[in-house]
Amino acid sequence: MSVKVSPSVLTADFLNLAEDIRKLEKSGVDMLHLDVMDGIFVPNISFGVPVIKSIKKHSTVPLDVHLMIDRPHRYIKEFAAVADILGFHYEAGSDVAETLREIRALGCKSCLTIKPCTNAEDIFEFLPLCDMVLVMSVEPGFGGQSFMPSALPKLSALKAECERRGLNIDLEVDGGINAETAPLAAKAGANVLVAGSYLFCDEMEKRVEYIKSL
Ligand code: DX5
Ligand code: ZN
Repeated sequence: MSVKVSPSVLTADFLNLAEDIRKLEKSGVDMLHLDVMDGIFVPNISFGVPVIKSIKKHSTVPLDVHLMIDRPHRYIKEFAAVADILGFHYEAGSDVAETLREIRALGCKSCLTIKPCTNAEDIFEFLPLCDMVLVMSVEPGFGGQSFMPSALPKLSALKAECERRGLNIDLEVDGGINAETAPLAAKAGANVLVAGSYLFCDEMEKRVEYIKSL
């Protein structure tokens, strides 16, 4: 299974988003990772449905929406209308199984996300309801942080559990991915790598190609 790249546009220039998206797509990215922050679940505020709607008009790849919002079940319908993969946090205060089911019922792929403080085993019971699981390798809220190696055994544990149960689930990792950490995450079992600050430079194309080659 080859590694997919889901670039986080958080570090993009928002006044030139269409141009940045064009560059990313030309570089061969597999999807776009959109970080939605509400200033409550995480100490930062980013963007919401109207911006994602505009991004959708300019992109040809699937939109991988990462909700970092409190009690996400309140907004699933709105985000499902613009997302292809819709993820929310296990720790965010919604009924996990019900929210995963709702996402699928609305025609999106479901993604359950865990913060660094959550163990992989805590979400094993929900795996049959997930199309993807996202393991955070930084505290959610900001781009440009350092990779936390504690994400690696979690990815391995999730991969082993999926294999044991015959579940075909994408394993995504998000935060601090660069030339050194990407191969570690891929080796541990991640097959979708989110990268923000690492990709937004003159070497975007080369860096996307490198991650995809892992
Ligand atoms: C953090 C976000 C990440 C982040 C990735 O809360 O979920 O997607 O922006 O950025 P880098 O790759 O710079 O860590
Ligand atoms: Zn993210």
